Amino acid sequence: MSKERKPGSPKARPGLRSNESLRVLISDARIKKRLKQLASEIRRDFPTETLHLVSVLKGSVFFLTDLARELGGEVSFDFLSVSSYGKGTDSTGEVKLIKDLDVSIEGRSVIVVEDILDTGLTLKYLLRLFEEKKPKHLRVVVLLDKLERRIAEVHADYTGFVIPNEFVVGYGLDYDERYRNLPDVCVLQLGSHGKTKPE
Ligand code: IMP
Repeated sequence: MSKERKPGSPKARPGLRSNESLRVLISDARIKKRLKQLASEIRRDFPTETLHLVSVLKGSVFFLTDLARELGGEVSFDFLSVSSYGKGTDSTGEVKLIKDLDVSIEGRSVIVVEDILDTGLTLKYLLRLFEEKKPKHLRVVVLLDKLERRIAEVHADYTGFVIPNEFVVGYGLDYDERYRNLPDVCVLQLGSHGKTKPE
């Protein structure tokens, strides 16, 4: 049984501004429980392999570190950084590599660890990039999937939660670099009209 935080405590609402409100969508207790299930699904498929966890900075950092501890066995990490342009439905969805991986993924069992699948354009770009480098296995785990927003034809092999089309923060996800340290995944609402999609 997890300890409930009092609503309004600083830990529950880090950096909350006056025109913003948060609604818990997925509590940290549910996240932890689901991570154990995801880790055992992955280990069932790769019981003895060294798993090379590759993650996009910065939103997936807590997900990667928590998942890695649940996976057990031999695990290594690497990180890359991308920036995305014009992710609206009418865009080309250009993604640019800002920081490449430190080590080669050739011959490795790679698990791409993503915080959230939205249009899928970032993941499509990454998978194309990684496939060229000839990993032994290439799988994708995502914590959150906004299925209804998908533009690119991509899917995750392991999915934590399918969520509605709302802007979420917490557990690594940010709004303008804030809220990453929120323990729960929350819907961010702006202003008094319950608008949930920051521009
Ligand atoms: P995609 O290329 O549209 O799938 O975008 C994926 C990236 O967009 C994620 O890795 C996040 O950085 C960002 N993103 C998408 N939806 C949200 C959200 O609701 N909150 C915070 N970041 C988001």
